[in-house]
Amino acid sequence: MQRHLISAADLTRDDAVLILDTAEEMSRVADRPIKKLPTLRGRTVVNLFFEDSTRTRISFEAAEKRLSADVINFSAKGSSVSKGESLKDTAQTLEAMGVDAVVIRHGASGAPYRLANSGWIDAAVINAGDGTHQHPTQALLDAFTMRRRLVGRDAGLGQDLAGRRVTIVGDVLHSRVARSNVDLLHTLGAEVTLVAPPTLLPVGVASWPCEVSYDLDAALPKSDAVMMLRVQRERMHAAYFPTEREYSRRYGLDGDRMARMPEHAIVMHPGPMVRGMEITAEVADSGRCTAIEQVANGVSIRMAVLYLLLGGNEPAVTNTRTEEK
Ligand code: NCD
Repeated sequence: MQRHLISAADLTRDDAVLILDTAEEMSRVADRPIKKLPTLRGRTVVNLFFEDSTRTRISFEAAEKRLSADVINFSAKGSSVSKGESLKDTAQTLEAMGVDAVVIRHGASGAPYRLANSGWIDAAVINAGDGTHQHPTQALLDAFTMRRRLVGRDAGLGQDLAGRRVTIVGDVLHSRVARSNVDLLHTLGAEVTLVAPPTLLPVGVASWPCEVSYDLDAALPKSDAVMMLRVQRERMHAAYFPTEREYSRRYGLDGDRMARMPEHAIVMHPGPMVRGMEITAEVADSGRCTAIEQVANGVSIRMAVLYLLLGGNEPAVTNTRTEEK
């Protein structure tokens, strides 16, 4: 494992499987009456959020607290960033306070890389989403969810997703979730198909390790998992499709379309969902949709990443049992 987690593309298969297996151990903590391990006692983690977030932010905070870290939450709104302070000055302020890890979400692609490689700070850097670039812990929690659902919870350890077919649908152009998933799923041996209107596919997508299609109905019967993406209005400065109705009709997932998927296949969504746009309420609330499971799994994945990056050499959970005696 590298010292930072900036991109899903930096993970080898062994790194990724180690994180998934560690997360499986961590998930057991959630079943205990007291959901806490002493693993990061005395370590300080800062959540540095320059962009809005519900799930990712709460999930990192829950993971840090379950590992007993001291948590500092920083959001750009209401901080000196709105007075014009640079990322460098913010970083150096954190460094002066002696932080061990920084979890950063930023609107600019490359901000976490800059933070990790600038020499401004010594802490481990975890990318919680940068611009349209990467969101590695989302890809890891998605892989974890697929492995549990498609390979099986007990058979899961040490396994990857070799040969599983994953279809990612929607606003690929603006999606760091799609980019991270394509990278990680390729490393884990899955076959990925992107389905989107041509206007919502990035230039250069032909060189990505996946297939591209414009026909959702043709892709559905061949999918083990279908991941729906939100149309990211906040990153759009032009018209990418005629109307919302037209978009939903061609690229939205409703009950009729879901019926074309194989019986075992699951529907995924990273959240936030826009019901009625990329997914209907019927699909979102059905037992085949794993959106809520993904959130729960996100805490285990983030515990695993924090534990491994902050120097976990021994099995975290077993280790704790000894301390509990
Ligand atoms: C995504 C994100 O922020 O990249 N959400 C998330 O982290 N769960 C996707 C989105 O905003 O649509």
